[in-house]
Amino acid sequence: MNREIPIKKNEEYIIDISGMGHDGEGIGKVENFTVFIPGAIEGETAKVKILSVKKNYGYGKLMEIIKPSEKRVAPVCPSFGKCGGCSIQHLDYNYQLQIKRKRVQDALERIGKLEGVKVHNTIGMDNPYNYRNKVQLPVGEDKDGNIVIGFYAPRSHNIIDIDKCFIQEEISHKVVQLLKQWMNKYRIKPYNEEKHTGLVRHIMVRKGFKTGEVMVVIVTNGDKLPNKDELIKSLVDNIGGIHSIIQNVNSKRTNVILDTKCKTLWGQDHITDYIGKFKFNISPLSFFQVNPVQTEVLYGKVLEYADLKGDEVVFDAYCGTGTISLFLSQKSNKVYGVEIINEAIENAIENSKINNIQNAEFIVGKSEEEIPKLISKGIIPDVVVVDPPRKGCEKILIESICKSNPKRVVYVSCDPGTLARDLAIFKELGYETEEVQPVDMFSQTSHVETCVLLYNKEYYEKEVKGKVKAEVVTEV
Ligand SMILES: C[S@@+](CC[C@H](N)C(=O)[O-])C[C@H]1O[C@@H](n2cnc3c(N)ncnc32)[C@H](O)[C@@H]1O
Repeated sequence: MNREIPIKKNEEYIIDISGMGHDGEGIGKVENFTVFIPGAIEGETAKVKILSVKKNYGYGKLMEIIKPSEKRVAPVCPSFGKCGGCSIQHLDYNYQLQIKRKRVQDALERIGKLEGVKVHNTIGMDNPYNYRNKVQLPVGEDKDGNIVIGFYAPRSHNIIDIDKCFIQEEISHKVVQLLKQWMNKYRIKPYNEEKHTGLVRHIMVRKGFKTGEVMVVIVTNGDKLPNKDELIKSLVDNIGGIHSIIQNVNSKRTNVILDTKCKTLWGQDHITDYIGKFKFNISPLSFFQVNPVQTEVLYGKVLEYADLKGDEVVFDAYCGTGTISLFLSQKSNKVYGVEIINEAIENAIENSKINNIQNAEFIVGKSEEEIPKLISKGIIPDVVVVDPPRKGCEKILIESICKSNPKRVVYVSCDPGTLARDLAIFKELGYETEEVQPVDMFSQTSHVETCVLLYNKEYYEKEVKGKVKAEVVTEV
């Protein structure tokens, strides 16, 4: 029998918020019917206007907080709620860390059916603001013809003009100001997405946190850049640490921000930065982790869980530009990194050269194809690290890894749901989840990164427990 839906669109209800959703939204019930309410917090009572009703749940707008939570804080950013960037700036930072941990724990229990697994407290940041080393902002025009540079509003292509974004490195605000001044002074037209007219499409700013080197990239619809000397002078005179000014020419009708053609207008074609002791050359198109402080924390955890002694063969599946591989190479005999994107592997090879690493080999291809090939050639890993995209690992890869019998597997994940699914497969194949460490890489947003240690149950029983038993017997 179909149950009657107890809420109606555009009607208002008083709702007790009983949980938090994946995107940091509050969840409440009206006669047992679930309603998601962005901006509401568990423990609050709120007046909510229903915006949409589906078969099993609805979405509501927070109209009034009748009983506030003590976890609620005033968001520092005046654009919070309008801009699509941060979603949980209204939550006390400690509470942000708690809900991220809980999200991981819930996924392990609900999806993975893994009971009693140790999930550590989320490792947070000392300063959970200004942590991003890269910003890419669309440039456009408002309805009055004013230049706007900022972020897209949630689920739209309207640019919200932003003077200051609190999760970006401060220097980007100054660059945006100077670009606007230059565009206004010389009447440089911003790009119009619908008409495919105008010149300046995006501005990208990158900063090396350890080196202080700054790169500015102006993305243009076409080759010409009138009055570019004035722009260069303004940036060079006012931006401390400026190292590189680049024009990226993107004349395509596309949502992709950068195209492949880069012209160096001033300075070098790249900047450098470090993660730990490793040096990286960062060009406009190369991938580099956006939160370098927490990346070092995350990779430190990977290394701790890998527990390398120096003589191991290690596989780094989904290796990207090989940053984890470099960390692993310092403590192992040989690392094999596998990544599907050719350019990322070119970067990985360059990165290992810059750092004089000779025991890392990189392979272009799908992990689920290349790892079994390595194993079939007789290259057997002692430790395997996987860091897949959101959709997680292919089952066939997990099967191949488990068959090759490594002592440990370290799983780095950006999606607790697929992580839990995969850990359950590992468990079926003899790999127990030993420790789970969430790390906050994207403060003020609902994303959570997790590092997990799995150990080979058979190896552990035989080698570790067996050894302890033997030592006890010898002592007696
Ligand atoms: C979460 S990133 C990990 C990057 C890297 N480990 C790091 O820390 O910078 C996932 C990577 O997997 C790559 N990828 C996606 N599917 C793949 C597959 N089937 N086999 C190998 N790599 C894949 C993506 O291109 C991306 O670089």
